[in-house]
Amino acid sequence: MKLIFLGPPGAGKGTLAARVVEILKVPHISTGAIFRSAIAEKSPLGLKVQAIIGGGGLVDDETTIALIRERLDREDARGGYILDGFPRTIPQAEALAAFSPVDRVVNFDIPDSAVLERLSGRRVCRNCGVNYHITFNKPKQEKVCDRCGGEVYTRDDDREEAVAKRLEVYRAQTAPLIGFYRDQGILVDVDARPAVEAVLAAFKQALHIRI
Ligand code: AP5
Repeated sequence: MKLIFLGPPGAGKGTLAARVVEILKVPHISTGAIFRSAIAEKSPLGLKVQAIIGGGGLVDDETTIALIRERLDREDARGGYILDGFPRTIPQAEALAAFSPVDRVVNFDIPDSAVLERLSGRRVCRNCGVNYHITFNKPKQEKVCDRCGGEVYTRDDDREEAVAKRLEVYRAQTAPLIGFYRDQGILVDVDARPAVEAVLAAFKQALHIRI
């Protein structure tokens, strides 16, 4: 199954994708994670996008589309995938439709107040990328990843000013995709406010997944 996870920053897309890949056995492809590892490696891509991401803006469409096109061409994505964070603009969605049309788009619905609570408490493993939250999902040992022992840190773009900018960009450039995909009849809405297990159950019900 080819899926897009759509929703504002902090809706829980990455957290849910980590659970769903175990069920569907497809890769979780996160443009944000790809950009963050390029930044950590100080690659040419990382140097190009670091300031944009830290400030909460969007990387240009041309760069992002080329990156996803190359990623979806790999063998592991042939049988399906979860796209998390792509597309984020109408031109990105139009490009994707031309090279890899998707089956379903899942819209994670959540108010700004919950987004702010989730992002201000989010912590991420610098090594393996697993997400934590200082209230909802703490690592067993402070600042140490349960899975790999890596350092657990606060993302640059989870600072208050960057979060405000990301929400503004989401409303202006990404939220129009809800109507774009609803008009095509492939959008399903999932209430992202409850705890992770309840969101997962709602997701499975919306997509008629019985595993
Ligand atoms: P990206 O990494 O995609 O960031 P995002 O969309 O802003 O999404 P987040 O990772 O912030 O949130 P999420 O919805 O995955 O929530 P999470 O599961 O972590 O992109 C980063 C940047 O890269 C962009 O700003 C842009 O600059 C650039 N970029 C990426 N894609 C691009 C594109 N296509 N075009 C151009 N630029 C692009 O959860 C958040 C927190 O809440 C965690 O702490 C988690 O533990 C907790 N949590 C999750 N679910 C629950 C729950 N149900 N109950 C309680 N807590 C929960």
